[in-house]
Amino acid sequence: MKQIDVCLTPDLLQLHKIENTIVVVADVFRATSCMVTAFAYGVNSIIPVATVEECRQWQERGYLAAAERNARKVEGFELDNSPFTYMDEQIRGADVAMTTTNGTLAITKSRGAVKVLVGSFLNLDAIARFLHSERYDVLVLCAGWKGRVNLEDTLFAGALVDRLKDNYAMAEDSAIMAWRLYVQGKDNLTSYLANSSHIRRLQRLGIQKDIPYCLQHDLYDVVPVLRGNSLVSMTV
Ligand code: MLT
Repeated sequence: MKQIDVCLTPDLLQLHKIENTIVVVADVFRATSCMVTAFAYGVNSIIPVATVEECRQWQERGYLAAAERNARKVEGFELDNSPFTYMDEQIRGADVAMTTTNGTLAITKSRGAVKVLVGSFLNLDAIARFLHSERYDVLVLCAGWKGRVNLEDTLFAGALVDRLKDNYAMAEDSAIMAWRLYVQGKDNLTSYLANSSHIRRLQRLGIQKDIPYCLQHDLYDVVPVLRGNSLVSMTV
């Protein structure tokens, strides 16, 4: 039987062997929810980069560039990482370079995997359907916050475990923990997440509407996958 495991923060990724594994990176608030939305609205490709400097270099080569640090847009870039920014006819067909505090870093750290997918509640079902037809084990990499664990990414990991549990064995306790948390919270994720760190951070910055948006399940059929440097979208 295939296995599903959960890495609760990129700082623990060194403990996992990913060469024969599909890694699903999740940064629910908001990097991966933003990427999934961008593809659903017609973005052609996204180059995820770890640093603001790299992002600037892509911008100089003519890419639309999105940069966020500490949940704020970095000055000098066209785009931020709110999903609502990408619901715009202007970005249809665009090639975007993106750097975010945690999400793009987690993606770049996953490069040694068989495949790197971008997951969020918005494309949970599409990711689960895609994985059903694959023969590899799965590792959900939670982007967390600057090396710390967060609740929302852990809940996404648990949701994916829940969708896959008939065909995948839970490899370690982190998968069991994530699944149990999701089962406990799934009927009202908004209230389950009340007072969590990044929700408080987003609320302090007045970024309210992104929160319920990113918690919606199964809105889009897109599965972003890393091909070389770029994320491109597969429709399942
Ligand atoms: C991240 O990558 O850390 C997030 O997308 C932060 C944010 O919500 O802006």
